[in-house]
Amino acid sequence: MTVPNTGNSMLNFSCIAFAAIIILGRTCSCLEFNYPNFNTSHMDDFSFSPGSTIANGSLQITPNTGNISHRSGRVVYARETLKLWNSKRSALTSFKTEFVLNILPQNGTAGEGMAFLLTNNPLLPSNSSGQWLGVFNNQTDGAFTNRIVAVEFDTKKSYEADLDDNHVGIDINSIKSVRHSPLSNQSIVLSSGSDVWVEIKYDGTSLLFQVTLVQYSTSGLHVSALSRYINLSLALLDNIYLVFAASTGDFTQLNQIKSWNFTTIDRTVKVGAWRKVLLALATLIIFSICLFAVLFMWRTLTRQRRLAYRNLEKMIDAHGPVKFKLKELRRATANFSHSRKLGRGGFGTVYFGYVKRMNLEVAVKRVSTNNAKSNRGEQEFVAEVNTISKLSHRNLVKLIGWCHEGSELLLVYEYFPMGRLDKLLYAGARESNSSSETSVLELTWERRYRIICGVASALDYLHHGSSKRILHRDVKASNVMLDGEYNARLGDFGLARVIQHDGVTHHSTQAVAGTRGYMAYESFFTGRASLDTDVYVFGVFIMEVVTGRSPSSSVLYLNHNDDNCESTEQGQHHVPMYIVDWTWKLYGQGKALHAADPLLDGEFDQAQEDYAVRLALACCHPNPRERPSMRTAVQVLIDGAPAPEPPLNKPAFVWPLGGNQQEMELPDVGLLFTGTAGQHSSFCSMTSTSLTGR
Ligand SMILES: *[C@@H]1O[C@H](CO)[C@@H](O)[C@H](O)[C@H]1NC(C)=O
Ligand SMILES: *[C@@H]1O[C@H](CO)[C@@H](O)[C@H](O)[C@H]1NC(C)=O
Ligand SMILES: *[C@@H]1O[C@H](CO)[C@@H](O)[C@H](O)[C@H]1NC(C)=O
Ligand SMILES: *[C@@H]1O[C@H](CO)[C@@H](O)[C@H](O)[C@H]1NC(C)=O
Ligand SMILES: *[C@@H]1O[C@H](CO)[C@@H](O)[C@H](O)[C@H]1NC(C)=O
Ligand SMILES: *[C@@H]1O[C@H](CO)[C@@H](O)[C@H](O)[C@H]1NC(C)=O
Ligand SMILES: *[C@@H]1O[C@H](CO)[C@@H](O)[C@H](O)[C@H]1NC(C)=O
Ligand SMILES: *[C@@H]1O[C@H](CO)[C@@H](O)[C@H](O)[C@H]1NC(C)=O
Ligand SMILES: *[C@@H]1O[C@H](CO)[C@@H](O)[C@H](O)[C@H]1NC(C)=O
Repeated sequence: MTVPNTGNSMLNFSCIAFAAIIILGRTCSCLEFNYPNFNTSHMDDFSFSPGSTIANGSLQITPNTGNISHRSGRVVYARETLKLWNSKRSALTSFKTEFVLNILPQNGTAGEGMAFLLTNNPLLPSNSSGQWLGVFNNQTDGAFTNRIVAVEFDTKKSYEADLDDNHVGIDINSIKSVRHSPLSNQSIVLSSGSDVWVEIKYDGTSLLFQVTLVQYSTSGLHVSALSRYINLSLALLDNIYLVFAASTGDFTQLNQIKSWNFTTIDRTVKVGAWRKVLLALATLIIFSICLFAVLFMWRTLTRQRRLAYRNLEKMIDAHGPVKFKLKELRRATANFSHSRKLGRGGFGTVYFGYVKRMNLEVAVKRVSTNNAKSNRGEQEFVAEVNTISKLSHRNLVKLIGWCHEGSELLLVYEYFPMGRLDKLLYAGARESNSSSETSVLELTWERRYRIICGVASALDYLHHGSSKRILHRDVKASNVMLDGEYNARLGDFGLARVIQHDGVTHHSTQAVAGTRGYMAYESFFTGRASLDTDVYVFGVFIMEVVTGRSPSSSVLYLNHNDDNCESTEQGQHHVPMYIVDWTWKLYGQGKALHAADPLLDGEFDQAQEDYAVRLALACCHPNPRERPSMRTAVQVLIDGAPAPEPPLNKPAFVWPLGGNQQEMELPDVGLLFTGTAGQHSSFCSMTSTSLTGR
């Protein structure tokens, strides 16, 4: 169902938003990065204190060139800060960071050390070289305003209380560590110039702060760990910067970070099984609510549309059809896009359209420009369109409106999603042949009969029901739409009155209306449509629906040798026939029931089929005066009046219709004409323009 509709899309949007909230609630948009190495393309990701830089594939925390003694420095990750609390603010943020540090002494003895900081004050304090590691200075040391939690990697014993010249410690606002651990007895040497892998983990729920150091050396893998419970919220504020700091003193070293990654671990992601179930349940419930809402909306919309349509019908009855702007119809049909094409019918191409202002699906017939009338005034045209739109019958397609701008002539009709009868009659079923025995036959006999009755009733209305006598001229399966209940809706009526060929009226002998295979004999001579030609065409239509064979394309065969009435596609011994002759032959042999569509598989009301065939043949009587009227046809089909008894052999066609003139035998093979048909010597040689104009 392709119903463009703002209400629906709003609803869909809110459903998506719902889903997004659920998803976002489970994941966190938290800080995460990974630098397997550093190069100058990463300069923008960090802010550097003077002298600090990226060099030799590493972050150089203190200057690596020039005067490198008594210096301090900081490198701050500048893209984002770390949130103190997790996304639900239910706990402190848990995180994990790993980095590889490499401390390279420059004078044999190393000094002073480096540190990883979590802080709200990213700026390097002055006078922070030497023992202060770029973290504190003489004045700030110990002040809670520092808002620093640090892990220090100390390579020099700089003051009395300092542990040794190779240790790791955890500092909170002071250079005097709250916990420290010597590394030498673990065979880890920070200032050996070889890489040290460091992992720092924090669990925001348990508050456990863990530091692990690993160093490879010739003697193997050496590990040291240090941990402490820290309530980060007591030391830090929100928006925490991630910082490396370092310093040199009398002794110097390169303080390098070779790789670094960081991830926040949102505890809310690690939901227990029961929470997963709850979440799934909540999702399901919200999803079904959305679904119900959409369905409900859709139902009210279709109801509204039906109501709108009824109002529209009333309006058309009162004021005539709607005059559309070309612009609006272009928009409705996506500028007559190929994808909207429903088919090519008589007079032009039909497109699917959606008229927003009426909230209505429509079929727009774009009359081909060379068919558009040129010799009639707009008023006359509008009068004709008005007449057609006033025709209201439940088996006719309603004309909703029209548009005539420039060379464009457009007619807007009711749209039927089920589509055209011929599609159902010929499409699926015949493709699949005998292979799909299981597929349910859509066009059951009951439905076919109802369709025939519907078309009969519509034609009777056109011929006898409305104040003006209206000829259809082109009754055929492809002009019959089906509504949701398989009721026939006859389309394309009255158009001949509205649209005329340039300079040629329909009284001209050249402008024969109709479709090959459906045309009454006399129309080749008179070139004129009449009630009788419509009746003839209706007869052919009955045969089409009953037999499931297309009168316009297929030539049927009757087996002569064994009188078997099976029709076959190939047959050297078979005689080709058109549908009327074929049906008549079967009827003459008393085998009218054999005419029924083989797809029905014998499942049809035999009495109904019999009088449908007899009525069809009576309608196709070569002599127009012998044909029943549509009124009679309706009485036979619907009111149960006795069906006509057509002669067992098809009578000869007599021309002119007066009676005592020359009689013309119609040969069995085809519809060969000779003699008075003017330039048309045979059916097959008739020019296609004169035959398929409609
Ligand atoms: C810098 O390192 C990144 C990987 O972190 C790499 O993709 C990029 O090519 C490197 N750029 C240069 C200039 O070496
Ligand atoms: C760069 O690093 C390599 C080892 O990673 C080292 O050998 C070299 O001396 C360093 N160069 C500078 C200028 O620091
Ligand atoms: C190096 O810089 C530090 C601090 O700026 C200064 O104290 C020291 O005297 C300088 N050393 C030399 C050799 O310039
Ligand atoms: C460090 O070594 C360099 C030579 O490599 C020397 O010039 C400098 O004076 C030394 N610095 C100290 C503090 O010993
Ligand atoms: C840094 O130390 C020097 C003396 O070493 C002192 O003169 C200066 O005031 C100090 N700066 C700050 C900001 O404490
Ligand atoms: C600052 O350093 C001096 C020596 O350089 C020391 O006497 C003083 O006590 C220190 N001040 C603080 C607040 O630590
Ligand atoms: C290293 O020394 C520290 C303090 O002296 C001690 O707590 C730790 O257990 C020692 N580690 C080993 C492996 O001996
Ligand atoms: C951490 O400290 C905050 C006060 O800043 C307090 O509300 C919270 O309960 C503490 N967390 C734990 C686990 O003790
Ligand atoms: C993070 O960095 C460490 C050390 O460089 C590395 O071992 C680990 O695989 C990295 N983790 C990720 C997720 O890249």
